[in-house]
Amino acid sequence: MTEADLESHRSDVAAELRADVREGLTAAQKWLPPKWFYDAEGSKLFEEITALPEYYPTRSEREVLAGRAAEIAELTGAHTLVELGSGSSEKTRLLLDALTAHGTLESFVPMDVSESALAEAATAISADYPKLEVRGVVGDFTRHLQLLPGTSPRVVAFLGGTIGNFLPGERAEFLHSVREVLDEGEWLLLGTDLVKDRDTLERAYDDSAGVTAAFNRNVLRVINAELDADFDPDDFDHVAYWNADQEWIEMRLRARRPLQVRIPGADLVVPFAEGEHIRTEVSAKFRAAGVEAELGAAGFALERWWTDSRQRFGVSLARSVRA
Ligand code: SAH
Ligand code: AVI
Repeated sequence: MTEADLESHRSDVAAELRADVREGLTAAQKWLPPKWFYDAEGSKLFEEITALPEYYPTRSEREVLAGRAAEIAELTGAHTLVELGSGSSEKTRLLLDALTAHGTLESFVPMDVSESALAEAATAISADYPKLEVRGVVGDFTRHLQLLPGTSPRVVAFLGGTIGNFLPGERAEFLHSVREVLDEGEWLLLGTDLVKDRDTLERAYDDSAGVTAAFNRNVLRVINAELDADFDPDDFDHVAYWNADQEWIEMRLRARRPLQVRIPGADLVVPFAEGEHIRTEVSAKFRAAGVEAELGAAGFALERWWTDSRQRFGVSLARSVRA
């Protein structure tokens, strides 16, 4: 299989990580941005998560896309499908199939920070859809949206519930930035995990095989590799906690004992008290009315709202209406 062409907008990964580590690990409540989970190993672990019995979001979203892809193709008549945070683009094949069958699709533009995941997905999709122009972009969807190629009408797909990994203010900013790069009448296809009972949620983020725990600890391995730090991932417990007030899952890494971690690449020594934690991710869960309101505030009109048969996951199709 020939490798797909990728365009990269990530220049100095270590410098970006250094800035985030200096900010997050010197804060009173330590935190790290979730994008640092996704080196090659982290992307592999995420794919394993999607197949776990406890992790329902991927299966639920796939059910919706399988049922609605033809309708999405009919409504949008897309010439370009852009996918943000595309990962393996596995579910996206349902959209590619429907849009190809509809006869309008010319190009597919997956964008991801994880070069390994993107390269693998873009190569496989180029081989399986030989008539499609596949233009992978290695980049950060909070910074590099201006650079996305493709002819109108475009559909921007943001699947998997990844929008929930933003904090609310970041989420509003992100939706505005997507709206800004779209022309009036172009489309956003958004996947949002829905609020449900604590037990289902916490089990989805603390599976019995320990894959999510390994994924969570992987961020420490990334910091070790990029900034020459001496985190021992086994010094930290994986914690997944449903914050019912904020309606988000919080993933944490909690120190098992008092520690000092050296991070020479960020010129830091970071102390941890026993039980002190780093918040490594929030995964917000949504309600239909909230999604519609947030889309509206960013300049999108909701055209369709679908859920899977168990109403665990929502997919919205929204049209950009004003800048
Ligand atoms: N869309 C896929 C993958 C979801 S996992 C699915 O539904 O299964 C989240 C993906 O977003 C990962 O591939 C990760 O590398 C990517 N990602 C996380 N933060 C990102 C950022 N700031 N910019 C671009 N991609 C990002
Ligand atoms: C990518 N994102 C939507 C996943 C989620 O469910 O928030 C990441 C993840 N974290 C733990 N498990 C999966």
